[in-house]
Amino acid sequence: MRHFLKETDFSAAEIPMIFSMAAELKRLRGGSYPRVLEGQSWGMIFYKNSTRTRISFEVGLHELGAHAVRLDTSATQISRGESIEDTAKVMGRYLHGLVIRTYGQEIVDEFAQHAGIPVVNALTDFLHPCQIYSDVMTLAEKWGNDGSDLQALKGRKLVFMGDCASNMANSWVLAGALFGMEIVLSGPDGFAPGTEIANELSKIAPGQKPVFVEDPEAAIRGADAVYTDVWVSMGDEEEASKRLTAMAPYSVTNSLMEKAGPKSLFLHCMPAHPGEEVTQEVLSSDRAVLFDQAENRLHMQKAILAQLGEWAKQEL
Ligand code: CP
Repeated sequence: MRHFLKETDFSAAEIPMIFSMAAELKRLRGGSYPRVLEGQSWGMIFYKNSTRTRISFEVGLHELGAHAVRLDTSATQISRGESIEDTAKVMGRYLHGLVIRTYGQEIVDEFAQHAGIPVVNALTDFLHPCQIYSDVMTLAEKWGNDGSDLQALKGRKLVFMGDCASNMANSWVLAGALFGMEIVLSGPDGFAPGTEIANELSKIAPGQKPVFVEDPEAAIRGADAVYTDVWVSMGDEEEASKRLTAMAPYSVTNSLMEKAGPKSLFLHCMPAHPGEEVTQEVLSSDRAVLFDQAENRLHMQKAILAQLGEWAKQEL
């Protein structure tokens, strides 16, 4: 059974196929789009809050012909101690696939091990692969012919500012190797990329290590794109004050953006906190592409769901 738990779960040959499908689904939206999951039911398990992920997956499943069963873990027996193994096995008897937003990567791994149906990672503390594929699609649209023009990404420099030990920073590290981009992470001491992502990177790019530059002005020089995310993610609330202080020099302001490349784009996976990781000025500028990123979640996830659904049918 095939899953999408990490960016690297699709092969080098499959990735362009997924991006072509996403670009095609975007073109077809509002017209006749294929309902390749007709008659199916997919579970959506959320251990954490969400706006974009929840809506884009539910709408995407609907448009592909499937019924979405929305489950907040607080309303399930998981919150009362039922094991993931038993939950996954039961869900696999009812559902055709699972979309999961949770804490540890090991939780999506365990669901995938026991459910017997495709599992999609809709964010863990380690990775956010659906977001990153959608962001890459957005950059391909801006720099190339359309969202499937992956050649347009080659050699481009993207700088990630802020918490460089976060799921988004980790996901960009993997995306850099997969899509031929130069990724520079810039954040304070204590928020550098960890060994787990370095190990993951070495599996697809032996000898490569995440690039971490503490000085934000040095890091951003010549960047084709600048990316940031909230400084206090879900689960980090107790450290809020420490994080806000440490990351203040990494706030993406107009003056910092001026040190990037002249046509540098600004990306954010949202929700944004204006005045913290980015100023309202930058968010409202022509460089900002965050609403295109958010829209592309829908098209990209439909492609991922359609492909996993297709492979699952072949398994039967
Ligand atoms: N970017 C993202 O995952 O947004 P939500 O938390 O609203 O789903």
